Amino acid sequence: VRETLAGAADRLRAAGIESARLDSRVLLAQCLGLSPDAVFAADAPSAPQLETFERLIARRAGREPLAYITGRREFWSLSFAVGPGVLIPRPETETLVEAVLAEYPEPLAPLRVLDIGTGSGCLLCALLAERPRASGFGVDSSTLALDFARRNAARHGLDARARLLEASWCPAGERDFDVIFSNPPYLTEEEFELSPPEIRDHEPRIALAAGPDGLAAMRALGLVFARTLGHAGLAFLEIGFGQCDKIDEIMGSCGLELRRAIPDLSEVPRCLVIGRPGKGGA
Ligand SMILES: C[S@@+](CC[C@H](N)C(=O)[O-])C[C@H]1O[C@@H](n2cnc3c(N)ncnc32)[C@H](O)[C@@H]1O
Repeated sequence: VRETLAGAADRLRAAGIESARLDSRVLLAQCLGLSPDAVFAADAPSAPQLETFERLIARRAGREPLAYITGRREFWSLSFAVGPGVLIPRPETETLVEAVLAEYPEPLAPLRVLDIGTGSGCLLCALLAERPRASGFGVDSSTLALDFARRNAARHGLDARARLLEASWCPAGERDFDVIFSNPPYLTEEEFELSPPEIRDHEPRIALAAGPDGLAAMRALGLVFARTLGHAGLAFLEIGFGQCDKIDEIMGSCGLELRRAIPDLSEVPRCLVIGRPGKGGA
């Protein structure tokens, strides 16, 4: 096992992958049907297992994201199915779930929720799992992403409370939401082109890039929030590095107010809490 892992890690390192050792262990664990922690105590892999491992390492050496190869990623301690066509949930996005739970601490709050650009459904599922009387919509313009979101809602037993719809930004005719989540695309085209191959060559551009200034989706969302937020509702919006002031302006021009900017674990302002003016403290 150690020899197999060392050879694979050398190959991934040569392909420019920093997490070469860990990735090799995760992929070998997948081939052996074990957890990564159990790999070192395993018997030597069989010839068919080694053949499968070889195929997976070749994919990873081609800079395919690890989560697409294993087919899952953990978010908010729940396992989400992912694959080509859907954004892999990122740890910093959990900031939005924390912010909603802090704002609505009542466990049985019957929240009406909208998740715009739901992707894998990670935000909507995490909140519905925490608030058993909440229900809502997950919207995405990507059919592929919605297939994953539907699978994930069913996997977590949430499909009766999560309606997943193909639409641009907003389900027609729906309004008065208590909570709106959105982690929209917010990279500039240039940032997207300069991102690592795992992102640029494999993850969907529509999930990440938002025009020359990275703010195209934010402009659309300001109008959607203004139309669909309930009287005392709040929108929880993920933003990119250095975008806070510009988005504050965009929301202000849509008649909305920035209540708070919440940093992620790296102390970068990551989640903006937005509401209607005069309905809460700044
Ligand atoms: C950054 S991803 C977020 C995915 C997921 N919410 C998460 O946090 O991992 C942005 C999502 O917005 C979707 N999207 C892009 N343009 C859209 C539009 N016009 N209407 C609805 N969804 C859109 C993309 O398909 C993608 O799934």
